Amino acid sequence: MSELNLTTTPVHVRHGSNIGQPMTRRDGILKVRGQAAYAADHHPQGMLFAVIAVSSIARGRVASLDVEAAKRHPGVVDVMTTTHKPELAIDPDLKTNPFVFRMEVLQSDEIRYANQPIAVVIAQSLEAATEGAALLAPRYEALPPRVGLDAGETFVPPMVGVGGPAVNEHGNVEAGLVSAAKQIDATYETPPQYHNAMEPHAVVAAWDGDRLSIDTPSQALVMARARVAELFGIAPEKIHIRSPFLGGGFGSKGFLTGPQILGVMAAKLVGKPVKLVLRREQMYGPVGHRAPTRQRLRLGADGEGNLTAIDHHARTVSSSFDDFYEPAANASHTLYASPAIRTTHDAVRVDTGTPLFMRAPGEATGSIALESALDEMAWACGVDPLAFRLKNYAEVEPLTGKPFSSKALRDCYEQGAARFGWSKRKLAPRGMRDEAGHLVGWGVGTATFPAMMFQAEARAVIRRDGSGVMETGAHDMGQGAWTALAQIAADGLGLDADKIEFRSGHSDLPDAGIAGGSAHTATAGAAIHNAGAAVIAKLADLATNDERSPLFGAGNTGVIARGGNLFRRDDEGRGESYADILARAGRAEVEARGTGAANPTAQADYAMHAHGAVFAEVKVDPELGQVRVTRMVGAFAAGRIVNPHLVKSQLLGGMIWGVSFALHEEAITDRRTGRIMNANLGEYHIPVNADVPSLDVLTVEEHDPHVNALGIKGVGEIGITGSAGAVANAVWHATGVRVRRFPIRIEELLTGI
Ligand code: MOS
Repeated sequence: MSELNLTTTPVHVRHGSNIGQPMTRRDGILKVRGQAAYAADHHPQGMLFAVIAVSSIARGRVASLDVEAAKRHPGVVDVMTTTHKPELAIDPDLKTNPFVFRMEVLQSDEIRYANQPIAVVIAQSLEAATEGAALLAPRYEALPPRVGLDAGETFVPPMVGVGGPAVNEHGNVEAGLVSAAKQIDATYETPPQYHNAMEPHAVVAAWDGDRLSIDTPSQALVMARARVAELFGIAPEKIHIRSPFLGGGFGSKGFLTGPQILGVMAAKLVGKPVKLVLRREQMYGPVGHRAPTRQRLRLGADGEGNLTAIDHHARTVSSSFDDFYEPAANASHTLYASPAIRTTHDAVRVDTGTPLFMRAPGEATGSIALESALDEMAWACGVDPLAFRLKNYAEVEPLTGKPFSSKALRDCYEQGAARFGWSKRKLAPRGMRDEAGHLVGWGVGTATFPAMMFQAEARAVIRRDGSGVMETGAHDMGQGAWTALAQIAADGLGLDADKIEFRSGHSDLPDAGIAGGSAHTATAGAAIHNAGAAVIAKLADLATNDERSPLFGAGNTGVIARGGNLFRRDDEGRGESYADILARAGRAEVEARGTGAANPTAQADYAMHAHGAVFAEVKVDPELGQVRVTRMVGAFAAGRIVNPHLVKSQLLGGMIWGVSFALHEEAITDRRTGRIMNANLGEYHIPVNADVPSLDVLTVEEHDPHVNALGIKGVGEIGITGSAGAVANAVWHATGVRVRRFPIRIEELLTGI
């Protein structure tokens, strides 16, 4: 890694001794030994077990519950219901801002979706609580559920995704379509999907007077604490939330959900610590999901194969009682150049738990449709799909006209194609077979994801023994944040990684923001970097103002921190250790804070995105229609790579998710009952090892001078975006059958093959 030009903070530190190294996970040993305590691993003294009873209808009301039968169970301690529960300080249906989501915490007997919590049984054991919940034998007054994309009246949502407009238009789309030599008009459907993190939502809550201690997985600790504070009417300082490890989250743990709050309420009701863990099937309802979409894409291209118009309309669903809208059409904003682009959304309300952010929300759904349509257009123009992308990818962001802060997409296409061997691809479908007679298809998809930043704070300390501490309440969802952020901390403190203590994962630490939007490393990393720079500046002040120091007179910015020493920038042979500086100054430690956030000027001037290109090979049995992904290559440019091991792992995970999107995942709702029929990991298909081919990840070198001081773009979500389309396009290339409803099913291929 070359030295960075750090434009926003004093240059004290040479990055690269820790950042950029393939360090193994700091928490790896704890995890493989089973010593990493996840939320549900906690058993405070006197703890009781809570189990939620959930609704088996999707719409209506609970007419009766046999609470007495449950209470007669010898192990049952209490049953929390709509009429027997601690009062909350605010209405859980109150929408104080668009990103406070409504939740079901027994506020009424109304049923808004299947699997909605309707009571909580608290018992001496998990078994007793489970049996007690079964004894409740609810009776319902049911109404016909509204299910699917055609369930009712459509409307244009007030906003989509994280607050963007539902409609965007640039240029004259109709004119672009009318004048086009070639047109594509195709409709694609994507199904509801569920996060299915390995660790179900769990909470262990313990009250001590008005103090509250909570173990629960969170992607946004300080936000979670604020939500608990407002719901229970206590000061945030009295709430301590621990979330050192998450077994995945994918967006479902970004906001506290109803069941987590029910666990806290149950502990308050019985005056003892309570544990509440969702069963797998209970995760299909109250904790968010990816909404289904139906997307119509109309593309126009001129006689030379240049796009003249992109019209992308997406329909999605939200719940009957809250608002979140999958921003699927927005995938068309940034990738391909066209003089005219229009993206529009509408939605239908259905009887479902509220959809929510799920890994690459909008980009994943939108890009599989866009990449499929682009391939359809390439074929209509008689052009290789990679050549078509190379011809049409945007040099400036099409919708805004802004230049990209950096863009290495061409390198991604070229390096990925070379590694894959793309040049040997036959243009027409059904043109390639393997020795066993299977149809072979090759597909490409472009990957893109915005390089976002939220807000974070960190606190840095350098101690008299020469060691350092960095604190920020960051979240390790399994992606390796604890390791990557500690690498940034070590460079920020000018120390080796084993000389620093990195404190993270609970709510008493400085606010690390949210582990979401692929922005955690960039945002918390920027805070850490700035806190490090600030504490080094204080140390430099002590030394450079002291005549006894070899650094005397070097000036606050005239020093470099490295390996626990400060050196003169103008003469690196002269330096002094942190320990000596602090000892002479008679100080036990120096301390400073730093914040991380986007630079608004740079954001106004540049479009900021990570990019990539994914190539997939599939083999299809011509008799059975069975699809096997046999090979994938992904080439990604995502700015500075903080840890190549962890980045590779994130990108592989994204690519596997792309395979899953194209071929496996779908939650199937029974139209009569509104219940999800495959709410388990047996029937909700995700790729297993046998489904995952040889995967190859390349990271393409990219130095983005504008995105943030460290040049980090984030890698959590981008891997999905090109991969799903690449697999779908490979299936078409193998079979000549264009399946537009995902996941691709054998039966749809068979009728076409
Ligand atoms: Mo992610 S869907 O931003 O946790």
